[in-house]
Amino acid sequence: MVTLVVEPPGRVASRVAGIVETYVASAPLPRLGLATGGTMLDVYETLIQHWREGRVDFSRSTAFLLDEYVGLDRQHAQSYRNVIRYTFTSHVDFRLGSVIGPDGIATDPVAEAHRYEQKLRAAPVGLQLLGIGRNGHIAFNEPGSHHDTKTRVVSLSPDTRRANSRFFHSLADVPTQAITQGISTILKAHHIVLVARGEGKARALEAALLGDVSRTVPGSALQGHSNVTVVADAAAARYLS
Ligand code: PGA
Repeated sequence: MVTLVVEPPGRVASRVAGIVETYVASAPLPRLGLATGGTMLDVYETLIQHWREGRVDFSRSTAFLLDEYVGLDRQHAQSYRNVIRYTFTSHVDFRLGSVIGPDGIATDPVAEAHRYEQKLRAAPVGLQLLGIGRNGHIAFNEPGSHHDTKTRVVSLSPDTRRANSRFFHSLADVPTQAITQGISTILKAHHIVLVARGEGKARALEAALLGDVSRTVPGSALQGHSNVTVVADAAAARYLS
C-alpha cells in the first residue's frame, strides 16, 4: 500500500527525518537503508542537526547502502561508502563498522554482490530511504530490470552516467558499472520511504505510482509493497491527483 504525503519543499526533509527518528527510537535494533543522491542531502543535514540537539541517537542502528560504483578506490570521494560517510554517518554516532555496503573494489564483484544479498536476506532492512531517477530507476535498477532481481553487478545507462557526471571531473570518469541491490532486495524492507522533489521527478513518480507495473519503470514495483510512504513536494506530486 502506498501512502502519499505532500509537503511544501522546505518541509520534505523534516518530514522524512521525523519518520526516520520515530523508527530509530522504536526499533530494538534499527536497520536503516540509506540512499545517496541529491534528494537525501537535506534529510541527512536535518538528521545531523537533530542528533546535535539530542533528539535522535544512532548508536544502536546499522545502516545499509543501496548500491556502490564498481572500481572506485577506497579514498575516492564519490564512492558511495565515502559519500554517505561525508554527508551523514560520520557526523553522528553510528558505531564503527555499522555502516555497510557492497565493496566496489572486491576482486570478484559478482561474488561480492551475492555476499551482500545474503546479508540483507538474513536480516532485512526495517526502514529504507529511497530516491527515484527521472527514468524511473530505483537504486541502479535501470528500466528493463526484472522486478525479481537480486543484488548484482549492472552496467549504468548513458542517462544515469550523464546525470551523475556532475559529481565527477568529466563523464569519462564516471564508472560504467555498479553493484546494486536488486528490486526484490529493496522490496524486502519492511517500510520504504520514497522521497521525490521537483518537477523533474513528476513524470517518474506518476509512472511509478499510477502507471502499469512493468519492467519499463522499475519504481512501479513499489505498487506491490505493503508499506510505502511517498514524501514529495507539490511539483513532484503534480500528476498524482
Ligand atoms: P537524486 O537521485 O536524489 O540525485 O535525484 C535519485 C536517484 O537517481 O535515485
